[in-house]
Amino acid sequence: MIGNFTYCNPTKLYFGKGALEGLNSELPKYGKNVLLVYGGGSVKRNGIYDKVVAVLKANGKEIYEDAGVMPNPTIEKVKEGVERARAANADLILAVGGGSVCDYAKAVSVSVHCEEDIWEKYFVRFEDVSCKVVPVGCVLTMVGTGSEMNGGSVITNHEKKLKIGHVFGENVYPKFSVLDPEFTFTVPRYQMISGIYDIMSHILEQYFSGTDDNTSDYLSEGLLRSLIHSAEIAAEDPLDYEARSNIMWTATWALNTLIAKGKTTDWMVHKIGQAVGAYTDATHGMTLSAVSMPYYRLILPYGTPKFARYAVNVWGVDPANKTEEAVAYEGLKRMEAWMKKLGLVMNLTDLGATREMLDGMVESTLMNGGGYKVLSKEDVRAVLLASF
Ligand code: NZQ
Ligand code: ZN
Repeated sequence: MIGNFTYCNPTKLYFGKGALEGLNSELPKYGKNVLLVYGGGSVKRNGIYDKVVAVLKANGKEIYEDAGVMPNPTIEKVKEGVERARAANADLILAVGGGSVCDYAKAVSVSVHCEEDIWEKYFVRFEDVSCKVVPVGCVLTMVGTGSEMNGGSVITNHEKKLKIGHVFGENVYPKFSVLDPEFTFTVPRYQMISGIYDIMSHILEQYFSGTDDNTSDYLSEGLLRSLIHSAEIAAEDPLDYEARSNIMWTATWALNTLIAKGKTTDWMVHKIGQAVGAYTDATHGMTLSAVSMPYYRLILPYGTPKFARYAVNVWGVDPANKTEEAVAYEGLKRMEAWMKKLGLVMNLTDLGATREMLDGMVESTLMNGGGYKVLSKEDVRAVLLASF
């Protein structure tokens, strides 16, 4: 039976060529002081920084900068950002970058007026925000996480060897996000395909649960088909506007809470991937691709009908004269072939993980129920081992 839910997504999107113009409608809603947050410098090289600064200046904003947000942002960097936001008396935090920059901006936004230890409050105890939140807006330059239209904020604590995501409520979602597919054209191929697999994993981890006839699953199948198709085109020609636009739009819908509605989810590929990330600092989507096939092979026997449906509806497997199980496995085989063709990382060794890290990664994996099989720590170990 489809579960009860509430649904609200407050983020306003500006999508397409020239979408940055949308800032002119948004900026007047906020005070003068803008904390401009970005990463390691790609936005300076590709000209996006200059374009954003020009719009901010045209709107009479005082710009305070917070640069150098690293992929997989750390709690130390968040604390630094909080100090900058306080010193700037920021009225708006404008994140210009990928998921790391957007996630970081949200973490700063809920911490500026927080007197408690922010790691303990948000990433250990998962408490709600109990202070004023500084509004966040995003200009997205790298596609995958869905951070542009959700409350997720994933922060790494190297000292504790933990990478943890807090899913904040609607008050923390970006107020607006600018999505111009052309802003993603300079993303290196490795990052592009990593983002594509991140999207795929988001959809699959919401799809593979439940046995009911849920509309969310039909939406997921449509998104998956679009993603698979567009990814093949983008892999051949990264400058194909239509393909990159579809990937961008799919990413947003993959993780803006819609397709999880009425479903239970355990997010175990992400939980295991985050443990790998905590130990290796590897690119997020690749931590997921590296552990996915062993994970899906482990849970397939517990959800065979859904895996067979996936094989037929998403991968076009012909079920005639085959057992349900055979159809299900053929779907996974086609998925694996597609992953290899794209050039995704298929094992942990390529991410710099070693067997000495195994115990720690098992320990660091947060456990959840809600999928076809409630994993034990031994299952996590088996998935990780099979991923070497
Ligand atoms: O730092 P710069 O120099 O900007 O370079 C970045 C970075 O090195 C580069 N890049 C971004 N846009 C570019 C570009 N290079 C050239 N041209 C452009 N237009 O790409 C690299 C990766 O960026 P990053 O933001 O780290 O990638 P992504 O968007 O994949 O974000 C990953 C982070 O998001 C978290 C991940 O765990 C990870 O920490 N996630 C957030 C989620 C959420 N908010 O809901 C869910 C996801 O599952 C994920 O966990
Ligand atoms: Zn992800």
